[in-house]
Amino acid sequence: MAEPVQTPQAFPTRIFSGIQPSGSLTLGNYLGALKRFAQKQNEGIETLYCLVDLHAITVWQDPAVLRQQTREAAAAFIASGVDPKRSILYNQSQVQAHSQLAWVLNCVARVGWMYRMTQFKDKAGSNAENSSLGLLAYPALMAADILAFKATHVPVGEDQRQHIELTRDIAAKFNHDYGVNFFPITEPLIEGVATKVMSLRDGTKKMSKSDPSDQSRINMTDTADAIAKKIRKAKTDPEPLPETVEGLDGRPDAKNLVNIYAALADMTQAQVLAQYAGAQFGTFKPALADLAVAKLGPITAEMNRLMAEPDEIDAILGRGAERADAIATPILNDVYDIVGMIRSRQV
Ligand code: TYM
Repeated sequence: MAEPVQTPQAFPTRIFSGIQPSGSLTLGNYLGALKRFAQKQNEGIETLYCLVDLHAITVWQDPAVLRQQTREAAAAFIASGVDPKRSILYNQSQVQAHSQLAWVLNCVARVGWMYRMTQFKDKAGSNAENSSLGLLAYPALMAADILAFKATHVPVGEDQRQHIELTRDIAAKFNHDYGVNFFPITEPLIEGVATKVMSLRDGTKKMSKSDPSDQSRINMTDTADAIAKKIRKAKTDPEPLPETVEGLDGRPDAKNLVNIYAALADMTQAQVLAQYAGAQFGTFKPALADLAVAKLGPITAEMNRLMAEPDEIDAILGRGAERADAIATPILNDVYDIVGMIRSRQV
């Protein structure tokens, strides 16, 4: 093993994040990810956002549906304020460095690390032996997504924390094994009140696009009527809203609705409670439904407008992929040099 080289290398701030186009995006994806992606872009930081189609196929996807969902997710990004001129927006499979770096990182990461991932345990369920090999290796591909750009910060929801910690471990092991200071030790950005939006049917479970109950989530494609109905039927408890944030402890359903309100209105939980302390859900739910429709309605309308021009979406993703490729290919070439691959082919 080579001696570690102690030459500190500065890593310019660069943000990368991704979303799987494996179903309709939810309010959880919007508040925990998309809304924050647009904010980061607006802070003037270099931002890359990726529709991770290669991750999606770790579980079965109908090809035509996957294509449709990838375009729909791209439309959701743009409608949520991600500007494809200021951010780099593309789908993963169009940039080969993701898969190529993933292989190298597969050889750095340890199998035991993969078996410990809670997302693998959840998705593989009781039949892990029969899950795809890709599902097990998924976090190494995710590390490759981030490290192919030497991204320093990754905005994600709480559920991705363990994967980012693994990315840090993989980067550190690569740097150590090869005696380099090549990859940054990426920081997760898990901020705000909506880092874990919960199911509307069970405030102890994450809102998820893969939940069998459509009533458990608000989809970004839901109509105003559907949104209002789902919020009206959301599970709650019989108590009125408390005066303090601590008063929400032990009341997961109430807390979830307050958090959703706060995130949609750009308020703190305390500000929401200052307005609604003592209110019954009969009052709070219609206010929340109005707010959700006011915020999501224009986004859904813009998504529908964009979806009417799929060729334009494909062209945007193609241009984004070219820009992403221009950053990732030199980094991948450096990785191949570091690990000892001969690179003599003239192209
Ligand atoms: P995915 O597609 O499951 O979710 C995309 C983003 O949405 C966040 N999120 C939520 N946030 C708050 N509340 C919820 N209920 C909720 N549900 C989802 C997720 O935390 C995530 O930020 N492995 C990733 C995709 C990925 C990735 C990456 C992310 C692949 N490569 C590189 C960052 C960097 C995933 O499955 O996210």
